[in-house]
Amino acid sequence: MVELRSVKKIYKERTVLDVPQLCIRDGESVALAGANGSGKTTLLRILARVLRADCGTVTAPDDVLYLPQHPYAFRGTVLDNVLIGAKEEREKARQLLEELELSALADKRAQSLSGGELQKLALCRVLIRPCALLLLDEPTAALDTRGTELVRDALARYKTQTNCTLVFSTHAPQLAAKADRLILLRDGRIDAHGGTPAGTQERP
Ligand SMILES: Nc1ncnc2c1ncn2[C@@H]1O[C@H](COP(=O)(O)OP(=O)(O)O)[C@@H](O)[C@H]1O
Ligand SMILES: [Mg+2]
Repeated sequence: MVELRSVKKIYKERTVLDVPQLCIRDGESVALAGANGSGKTTLLRILARVLRADCGTVTAPDDVLYLPQHPYAFRGTVLDNVLIGAKEEREKARQLLEELELSALADKRAQSLSGGELQKLALCRVLIRPCALLLLDEPTAALDTRGTELVRDALARYKTQTNCTLVFSTHAPQLAAKADRLILLRDGRIDAHGGTPAGTQERP
């Protein structure tokens, strides 16, 4: 289970995240929506433990994979980059590249990709491994409609295969619609009137 209690993040006396309570049950998928600056990335970084909350407690599995908001490429080819996630998994890497329509680029230098191609590659690098908690920060921000659908379908497959808990931020309605629950953030707080069951409680 993922649980936040009395979590706050404060920058220079400005509270950018204030979550009294949030529980996400195992296997649940949660979409984080909200305007720029509403605290989505801050929340995901705290769950990923790359950022510490200033107070409160965070309970989350250790087995976490986190895709940051801005995708990047390592040196080497596209295929090399996917294999960074799991060296032995060549077959799986090829399959993921196929699913995200990147196969034709497998031998291309990863650092020469377009923004959208790079975003799909960064996702492949993450999805090659199973995990208990998958955190994705705007995984389709640079993608067109087709790319967004490919990511949506790849995530659905990954979720079925791993039964992971999934938390992702997005502005894409096609992606948000697939989540079990939508949490709307407004100025760092969970908006009780946005999305499905209020966001602070588990669903029955
Ligand atoms: N390192 C930082 N220093 C100061 N302010 C920050 C820092 N990181 C984030 N913020 C502020 O926190 C607020 C929430 O940011 P963020 O979580 O990135 O929002 P979102 O992902 O929803 O766009 C924003 O107002 C942002 O400017
Ligand atoms: Mg963000």
